[in-house]
Amino acid sequence: MQITLETKPYASLETDALVTPVFEGDDPVQGRVAELDQLTGGLLKKLAASGELTGKTLEFTLLHTPAGLKARRLLLVGAGKKDQFNVATLRKIAGAALRSLKAKSVSNFAFLAGGTLPVADGSQAIVEGLLTGDFETDKYKTDKKDKKIESVLLAGFPENAAEEAQKGMSRGRIIAESQNFARDLINEPSNKLTPRVLAEKAQAMAKDAGLSVDVLDEKKIADLKMGALLSVAQGGPEPPRMIVVTYTPANAKPGAPVIGLVGKAVTFDTGGISIKPADGMEKMKYDMAGGATMLGTMRALAALKPNVKVICVVPATENMPGGTAQKPGDIQTAMSGKTIEVLNTDAEGRLILADAITYAKQLGVTHIVDAATLTGAIVVALANINVGVFGSADQSWTDKLLTSAKATGEKMWQMPMDDEYREFIKGSFADIQNIGSGKGGGSITGAWFIREFAGDTPWIHLDIAGTAWNDDAKPWLAKGPTGVALRTLVHLVLSQ
Ligand code: BES
Ligand code: ZN
Ligand code: ZN
Repeated sequence: MQITLETKPYASLETDALVTPVFEGDDPVQGRVAELDQLTGGLLKKLAASGELTGKTLEFTLLHTPAGLKARRLLLVGAGKKDQFNVATLRKIAGAALRSLKAKSVSNFAFLAGGTLPVADGSQAIVEGLLTGDFETDKYKTDKKDKKIESVLLAGFPENAAEEAQKGMSRGRIIAESQNFARDLINEPSNKLTPRVLAEKAQAMAKDAGLSVDVLDEKKIADLKMGALLSVAQGGPEPPRMIVVTYTPANAKPGAPVIGLVGKAVTFDTGGISIKPADGMEKMKYDMAGGATMLGTMRALAALKPNVKVICVVPATENMPGGTAQKPGDIQTAMSGKTIEVLNTDAEGRLILADAITYAKQLGVTHIVDAATLTGAIVVALANINVGVFGSADQSWTDKLLTSAKATGEKMWQMPMDDEYREFIKGSFADIQNIGSGKGGGSITGAWFIREFAGDTPWIHLDIAGTAWNDDAKPWLAKGPTGVALRTLVHLVLSQ
């Protein structure tokens, strides 16, 4: 989809549709909307008076062959109250406008930017909304809808803001395309995306993006004594992979911080011998969303070129219940040397992250963020609204991430990590056990397990089990993978 900046007066744009946000208030016909009202001969005032045009968030009003405009349609999209308007709302409006026009077989439109946001932030959000909104999960459908938006004009910016707008637009494209890259991976079923295939896709991405990549095969993994990762992989015939992608800035300084991005990639989680119920098990193809998100983040960083070194480590495996699978009660030795009592083979994400974090530290990372579809318990706590955030003692590192989440409009909520919870994973027969012995707090005990391996290194864990998959389509986003956390992570790294 082509997106271009257009500084010509919007009334003269020959396009299938002109889209504009409308703010909610006593009188929604203000500013740009008042201009459009004049052009259309007072039509919008009438709609507002009748209560049909209010500006409530994502309210849609579609007018055909509007007088005074060359555009064939005028689409007014509610943007909510002006003082609450932010990049997240703008992104949603752009995505929802695109999806609704696409459904009507429109092939091109112009989006009128406006509002109170800085130009670059606004144009970035619009492009992100358009491109993530355009993403469909119909790859394996043979009767694909041929509805397609070919081109969008970004209009309404003053001419002297063109440079800033372009800057935001190119940044928005990099981030959204990387998010869609991650979503594509997450959407792949497990018969198409095994750990080996994920590694190949990571290699191809790294090559295209100019990143260095190293894939450890099962032999190397065994040589490095990654017993926790191997214990999960031993249940099925697919060999595991440890994928390492590195971004090094042009003027890397010795002694500078190195960020480690670690992502869980269980390409299918049956639960292993502690097998999951059949109902809903098909969704466990998205148990590699953390890994995909980290690879997508690296793709974006390669183009945005931050001034900090970033090492991405993705442990990839299936979790299968074969005859060689590990069994409840088995004791495994992780790469770090810690022994783990595996009380439940379905708590496998923390096992593979344990070795990935140990390896990342060995590679020299000084600050870690991990992302994982780790627990069903986080869905109970935060539903599909907030990402669960867990931190180590270094709250300043966690605060940086929360600031980035706020700035990019991704909802994240910090969970407690009191020492008392740590007691829950003390092992009876080994150093630690992989599930909590107390009742409740399942996401926190999961986080504590991972923290044991991060040790003193500042560390953040993002539990994205509730937020990485959209069960129902939203007006601005298709059903399926969301690519959540990527924008926050890109922002976090860029702000270092
Ligand atoms: N992959 C699951 C977590 C999950 C649940 C992701 C729902 C997405 C949606 C994870 O490996 C798992 O099975 N966790 C167990 C942990 C339990 C055994 C302590 C869970 O949450 O039930
Ligand atoms: Zn599991
Ligand atoms: Zn899992």
